[in-house]
Amino acid sequence: MRFGDGHTMFWALERGLDFTSLWLEFDSWVAGRPATDVLDLGIMLPGCEALRDAHREQRVWQLICSLSTLRRDVQEIVSGVTGNARNPLAYIDKQSVGIDFLGAQVARHGGHAQHKLAMLVQHVEAVLSRGPRVADDVLEAIVEFSMKKFNYWLKVAADVKGTLLNYALDHAKAAQGRVRMELGAYVGYSGLRLSGAVRAERVRPEAWRVLSLEVDPLHVCIARHMLNLGERSGLAEVRTGQVRDLLPKVVDDFGQLSVGLVFMDHRGTRFHEELRLFEREAMLCTQADIICDNVLHPGAPVFLWEETRPGSNRRATVWSLPEFGGEGCIEDWMAFERYEPRQPRSSSMRDPSIGVTKTKGAVQLLLFLSLFIVVLFQKNRQISSNNRTLNYLLIVPHLKQPTLQLILDQ
Ligand SMILES: C[S@@+](CC[C@H](N)C(=O)[O-])C[C@H]1O[C@@H](n2cnc3c(N)ncnc32)[C@H](O)[C@@H]1O
Repeated sequence: MRFGDGHTMFWALERGLDFTSLWLEFDSWVAGRPATDVLDLGIMLPGCEALRDAHREQRVWQLICSLSTLRRDVQEIVSGVTGNARNPLAYIDKQSVGIDFLGAQVARHGGHAQHKLAMLVQHVEAVLSRGPRVADDVLEAIVEFSMKKFNYWLKVAADVKGTLLNYALDHAKAAQGRVRMELGAYVGYSGLRLSGAVRAERVRPEAWRVLSLEVDPLHVCIARHMLNLGERSGLAEVRTGQVRDLLPKVVDDFGQLSVGLVFMDHRGTRFHEELRLFEREAMLCTQADIICDNVLHPGAPVFLWEETRPGSNRRATVWSLPEFGGEGCIEDWMAFERYEPRQPRSSSMRDPSIGVTKTKGAVQLLLFLSLFIVVLFQKNRQISSNNRTLNYLLIVPHLKQPTLQLILDQ
């Protein structure tokens, strides 16, 4: 088996096995000392978290610390944060990373992705000052780190994107027991913001609760650590797993109509699917804020198509703004809308992603998706982001003003 195969295997087995049988399979697989990756072992975390099985959860983190391919600096952080002993023999150096660990997560960018996370934690811990504004301090420290070097850049919603989020938070009504959900936690930056870090809101029982969903266990670990450093873990938590698997579990905990804000920042090509899942589970309250990042880069084509077309009872406003850390040269879009339950679909408003068969809609959608592929191809060939914007506007013509708001000059 290759690195990453364990993840696929146990994800598939989980569909048909109860958790105890799955755990037995997992235990015997681990006993065979396979070549494992963080994601392979982390696949057991969602089940442990859902069943509140702290003992097994601790065991998974212990295996991640001792068995998986972690750089030493990251191993130290994970073992410190989760309270497990690290394995000093599991040392991975720059030379071996590209040879012995080819295909493993650690080998991405020659191990730099992990190194960057370790350096981030060191930086935040070093510059942080305790006090009532500690959470905002963590936000500032993360941005400061990201701007230090070209290759320390972090894909977080900071700068103008953060201002847009603040605007939505400032206009939110009282929480009334509802939650704000973030899809894709990464290092916990926006999770802190959603928990009221910028306004130094106090951790009170009536405050908004925040739930971030994150598939990568390393990111989960760092995000939880940042929430602890910012003293917001009383309000905000991070759960491990893929959004599509976690949403049905979350509704059991929080109930229907419990979500007052969703910040989708994980994978643009899935935004429309996750929104449909939220609707199927009846999780969103009326007028819930839906905010989507990276709608242009890497792009959320079907979401844009569905939420901006004329005749829909919902309408996303799409903001064009500079990407954080791109020195004002890289354009991205964020989408914002107030949730209204979808009207029953008429024959002229078919669902594009589940197979349109009738003429006009199908032809338009096919054209749209094929042009989107061309746009993606252009991105890979490093053609400027302006071209990408123009292409998008060409294929989603109803996005032009006033739906697309330009705030590049601000
Ligand atoms: C752009 S980062 C999120 C940044 C974060 N929202 C912020 O502003 O601080 C995207 C994150 O989504 C996670 N992710 C990607 N696909 C996911 C999925 N299907 N389910 C859960 N998390 C996912 C990635 O591991 C990554 O950490």
